Amino acid sequence: MAAKAAIIGAGHTRFGALEAGPRALLRTAVDEAFGSVDHGIDRSEVGEVYLASLGFGGWQIGNSAAVLAEEMGRPGVAASRIENACASGGFALRAAVRAVTAGSAEAVLVAGVEKMTDMPNARRRYWLGVSGDTEWERLAGLTFAGVYGLIASRYLAEHGVGPEALAEVAVKNHAAGALNPNAHFHKVLTREQVLSAPRVADPLGLFDCCPVSDGAAAVLVVRADRARRFTDSPVYVEGLGAGSDHLAVQERGELTRFAATRRAAEEAFRDSGVERRSISFLEVHDCFTIAELLALEDLGFAGPGEAARLTLSGATRRTGSLPVNPDGGLKAKGHPIGASGVSQVYEVFRQLRGEAGPRQIAGAERALTHNVGGAGATAAVGIFAAG
Ligand code: COA
Repeated sequence: MAAKAAIIGAGHTRFGALEAGPRALLRTAVDEAFGSVDHGIDRSEVGEVYLASLGFGGWQIGNSAAVLAEEMGRPGVAASRIENACASGGFALRAAVRAVTAGSAEAVLVAGVEKMTDMPNARRRYWLGVSGDTEWERLAGLTFAGVYGLIASRYLAEHGVGPEALAEVAVKNHAAGALNPNAHFHKVLTREQVLSAPRVADPLGLFDCCPVSDGAAAVLVVRADRARRFTDSPVYVEGLGAGSDHLAVQERGELTRFAATRRAAEEAFRDSGVERRSISFLEVHDCFTIAELLALEDLGFAGPGEAARLTLSGATRRTGSLPVNPDGGLKAKGHPIGASGVSQVYEVFRQLRGEAGPRQIAGAERALTHNVGGAGATAAVGIFAAG
């Protein structure tokens, strides 16, 4: 199927505990995205902007999309915020692709941002927590680490797998993050360090969790048939899919499979007409190590319980047969909620243009992104190809 849209530019801040506020973070990512368009693009050609953000720093609860238009230098342009918790970025890209293909804008800017480290711990826990079910789960004290800990326990028991498979995800992604100058962590870990780290929500320890990060990422989207006006190396959006599930985990039929991901993947593969075997690498939503195993299975790259074996075999390392999260993933690169889905597209843009430096995957031609909201209530999947 012919691609409908293309990414022509991308920008990214460092992820981590940063001095900058959300406006400055956005400005940095947006300026880099415009600066990366090979033949240039005038900001007046951008007809619409989408901001992906959970809370724009936790303090500006509403109406933050206008800030993105301002920081792009064009207050006045149509601006919307897409908020699907951690999946905001994936859904913002979807909205942008729809806008350019529907003809409502010639070019669209998508940017994700979060400023998480300037909130007191209690407020941050509340702010993150209420993105899950508040009636029965979050206000009763269940955190995201708690939910994923329950899922991990169930997965290990169901499939007779040991915690080494979880630890291997952390080891792999920290090794990848060490090669990514934008990553929150550049610390290489051993399996023993991961397994002996303080417990957060058993069987998940400190190194099984994504960190709390600040950061922003931005991409520029145009219709596919206009892409070569801006660059000789566009990255085409071949297919997109999205799905949702019960917000409350207790309402779902099973703990160890995310129906939202399965629906999103099915749609993206159908939309693109692409076969799984032609995907060179994956950017999956590894907010906790267990989430990477679930993703491999729900996306159809491994059968139930098989993702553990695949991971332990080394196949998902950057140099393996199916590289997963070559940028370090949410685990080591960091997880500034709204920015993460856009950051995945940034990595795809760099990799498919051969611009990923020491973490470059040799011969990468096609990639998949997978962005999940909370504990699987929403999911967005994208399939991209080198131009
Ligand atoms: N991975 C690796 N190292 C981490 C880390 C992580 N997730 N979180 C913190 N660290 C490191 C810090 O850099 C620091 O190292 P140092 O002592 O060498 O400086 C040390 O661990 C302690 O950091 P601190 O910030 O005090 O940790 P914390 O106990 O306050 O927080 C978590 C740790 C895991 C609880 C926190 O990162 C967390 O809540 N993560 C999940 C966030 C989340 O739920 N996001 C939404 C997902 S759906």
